[in-house]
Amino acid sequence: MVTGAAARDYGLTGADSLRAVEAGLAEAEWFRPPIDADRLRELQARTNARAARDTVLWLALIALFGYLAWRSLGSWWAVPAFAAYGALYGGAADSRWHECGHGTAFRARWLNDAVYYLASFMLLRPPTLWRWSHVRHHTDTLVVGRDPEIVFPRPSSPLAVLGVFVPVLILAKSLWRTARHAAGRIDDDAAALVPADQFRRLRWESRAYIAALAAVAVWCAAAGSIVPALFIGLPTFYGAWMLMFFSVMEHAGRREDVLDHRLNSRTVYMNPVLRFLYSNMNYHVEHHIFPTVPYHALPALHQEIKGYLAPAEPSTLHAYRSIFTTLRKQWRDPSYDEPRPDVPEVADSDRAYVDTSVAAWAGDRHDSLVDLGPAHELAANSARRIDHGGATYALYRLDPEDTGSVAVDSPGCEFVLSDGLCTHGQAHLAEGAVLDGMVECPKHNGCFDLGTGEPLRPPAVEAITLYDVAVRNGRVVSRLRPRTDCRAVGAAG
Ligand code: FES
Repeated sequence: MVTGAAARDYGLTGADSLRAVEAGLAEAEWFRPPIDADRLRELQARTNARAARDTVLWLALIALFGYLAWRSLGSWWAVPAFAAYGALYGGAADSRWHECGHGTAFRARWLNDAVYYLASFMLLRPPTLWRWSHVRHHTDTLVVGRDPEIVFPRPSSPLAVLGVFVPVLILAKSLWRTARHAAGRIDDDAAALVPADQFRRLRWESRAYIAALAAVAVWCAAAGSIVPALFIGLPTFYGAWMLMFFSVMEHAGRREDVLDHRLNSRTVYMNPVLRFLYSNMNYHVEHHIFPTVPYHALPALHQEIKGYLAPAEPSTLHAYRSIFTTLRKQWRDPSYDEPRPDVPEVADSDRAYVDTSVAAWAGDRHDSLVDLGPAHELAANSARRIDHGGATYALYRLDPEDTGSVAVDSPGCEFVLSDGLCTHGQAHLAEGAVLDGMVECPKHNGCFDLGTGEPLRPPAVEAITLYDVAVRNGRVVSRLRPRTDCRAVGAAG
């Protein structure tokens, strides 16, 4: 018998959604442990080579097992071959989808986008809807009525658990939803996530998916065989067990409605094979706290901040034991929370990882310029927050070739001053990553061009303002006037 609190409304437009907003749980500040700003900058670095190697290996494995499956059609060998093919297609695609959706796998944006769209199709997730869904998941992780990606709404039940691990019904419902969107009927939950000016895109993506699946169905009918669908479309269903195997460990059974990823997410130690299949997302607490750190640097990030986190689960077996224990208890009592993880207390003053003392740079000068501090104190491709006159700015130093030198006369060195807050969710841009002439927001990986202020990647869709800036006698100065030329001002003598 179920006891305890009344069942909650996990929809995005229901009573618990309102309750979350009223309780200050929506778009709130989350716990972050301290980390050295320079070390974080190192961890945020991107290359194409690492992700290319992992992506090519993943696709090569899909091709290999696809070939073996095809060759073994009609024999029992086809069963393990299709099982492996499906797990790589409908399971391992999830972490590629995820990482490229954040834009952190590759250095080149087009490569992230290409893999994101490919993996989205493999998972039958319309890219725009799921991009915004995942943004919300990061904004309001496990906040009831706000997070659309809660796997186990309470109370759990054996049937619900079975439905998650054999997610045929979940995927069928998701496909039906895509068909409705293709027909132009955007549902309330989608409308609560996706900006209205992107509905058209969502409709056309949904139509493209339905058309592709219809083409596979026609192919099957023409061939008089289900084989084409076993390679395209159905692997999303029969390979989804692996997706669920990994993603359940991320948050299942953890606390709802807390603003601390250490309490609602889970880091689990795994062997290298599982970590390859899962793109290191087993370091899930770390990923949620610092989403600008690419997957391959998560083990190093873990080493950097683990002293501030709860001890990691030592194995998948251990993680699943505690998940099932908690789910079983929540089946009887939905208000049951697992014992609080043993997280160290961190003083509020230690939580910011950008050295806020830098804000003391900003001061008035007699010549109507605002002194933003010594230029040489800003490292190459880094940012500093500047608070002045009740407003917040971000000052960047851009160095196309980071030689490690602090000299501001190095070729191509530029200083750029922008609004300090992201236009999407008010995060401090100075805490983000400065990469290839753009700044990546620390909260949802939205990107802005530091030459123009234009948004380059959703969820950032509104430009930031850039301000005049120059270097005089070794100090960065500005009149704090919006730039009209849309070109960064170079280092001046
Ligand atoms: S706060 Fe969402 S992209 Fe910046």
